[in-house]
Amino acid sequence: MEFEKVIACIGAGYVGGPTMAVIAYKCPQYKVIVVDINKERIDRWNSDNLPVYEPGLDEIVKQVREKNLFFSTDVESAIKEAQIIFVSVNTPTKEYGVGAGMAADLKYWEKSARDILKYANSDKIVVEKSTVPVKTAEAIERILSTSDKYKFEVISNPEFLAEGTAINDLLYPDRVLIGSRETPSGIKAREEIVKIYENWVPREKIITSNIWSSELAKLAANAFLAQRISSINALTPLCEITGADIEEIAYAVGTDSRIGNKFLKPSVGFGGSCFKKDILNLTYICKYYGLDEVADYWLKIVEINEYQKNRFVLRILEEMFNTLSGKKIALFGFAFKANTNDTRESAAITIAKKLVEERAILSITDPKALENAKKDLEGVEGEIYYTEDPYEAVKDADAIAVITEWDLFKNLDYEKIYSLMRKPAFIFDGRNILDHKKLFEIGFNVYPLGKPPLKHF
Ligand code: NAD
Ligand code: UGA
Repeated sequence: MEFEKVIACIGAGYVGGPTMAVIAYKCPQYKVIVVDINKERIDRWNSDNLPVYEPGLDEIVKQVREKNLFFSTDVESAIKEAQIIFVSVNTPTKEYGVGAGMAADLKYWEKSARDILKYANSDKIVVEKSTVPVKTAEAIERILSTSDKYKFEVISNPEFLAEGTAINDLLYPDRVLIGSRETPSGIKAREEIVKIYENWVPREKIITSNIWSSELAKLAANAFLAQRISSINALTPLCEITGADIEEIAYAVGTDSRIGNKFLKPSVGFGGSCFKKDILNLTYICKYYGLDEVADYWLKIVEINEYQKNRFVLRILEEMFNTLSGKKIALFGFAFKANTNDTRESAAITIAKKLVEERAILSITDPKALENAKKDLEGVEGEIYYTEDPYEAVKDADAIAVITEWDLFKNLDYEKIYSLMRKPAFIFDGRNILDHKKLFEIGFNVYPLGKPPLKHF
């Protein structure tokens, strides 16, 4: 079959894979090639055991793979064949040199740009899919404009999907954002990208803007989302002291239509691969431009998140008579949120390490994330056990700490759990998913988040 156009994507991760699968699925007239330097990942994309777990992804990939969606390690051929090249490589926090621990590390992005420059055999549109610092397009343009043969147009098209709901987010996005230079050639290239999305996204949901707005809007959106969580979390200690109830506050505040009720769930702290890295990146950019007050403002979101994780551990320590040495604590959940095996930046990592520092014995239970949990805690010296069975995890435990909001934990037999534990038995519900009154009646000392505790002494 003759394809109308060929689209390549460099980077076959959590974003590149699902995003391109949806484009291929919705646009059978295009050929879509996803490439990655990681052969094991590509092999898995070509197998029945995909490297990314997302509800609905398997079905879509099965329908289009080898028809108009191809996974390969051949970066050169993909660049040559495609008219449009998305780049969705990782942009982690820099770990060395100037800006270490804050700035985004753009080495993977720059390598991709140089590959495009090296292998291109015609003019191309290059699309920033990765989350990048504002003004990255300028650097990329500088590299690409050293070509004396071909012309490249750089477009920003950040991704807003969340893990666990990626396919739904891609099929029915709130919006698609496409930024470009406001030159005739920039606007023409932008329209090419609009045309792709128009195949399934209503035109009014496709926002076009100048390229810097588009780059910065992605960082801003993540900062706003994380800020809501830090705002609600920052109120939890005050609730615990005063007798106010954080759920009632979230409801009362969220029913104001200007504020809205989403993303106001208190937690042990947000995790995931992006919120922290993107806010640090935003903070770094502000500092770079001499905007210290603005940088401090955004940084506070991350600081409050660290405070919340530490506070959770301190509360466990204080309530359990200021010693955890030799006490067994069952961690319910390790993933950074429910319905994923991803543990990147999960609050569980900090909490587990701090509990082990207090010489607590840990038994960790999670339906999907134990493999990653073991990797995250590799080299941590202490007694740590892993089990998929929550009843096994609580045997002789002194306390349960709920870290991830898996539905599974809501429906356990807590009478049985109580009987398996040492007394007094404690529950610290870091997600407020359990029935606290019922647990108290069973005999537990219950510590919800942002509500006064229910204790028997
Ligand atoms: P990831 O680490 O899962 O995937 C990135 C892939 O790029 C890796 O497989 C890596 O091998 C590959 N890669 C790196 N350099 C390469 C090169 N030179 N050539 C070919 N392949 C190369 O990362 P991700 O989670 O998919 O995130 C990618 C970008 O998207 C980041 O900037 C992130 O901030 C952003 N983002 C992520 C999410 C998310 O939910 N994970 C959502 C929105 C935006
Ligand atoms: C987040 C954003 O939601 C996406 O829009 C964005 O594209 C993505 O980051 C990214 O740039 O990588 P993700 O990290 O996958 O997506 O998951 P979220 O649902 O946002 O959850 C992040 C963390 O916040 C989790 O630890 C979650 O438990 C926590 N959270 C979320 C709360 O503590 N309370 C809430 O009310 C919501």
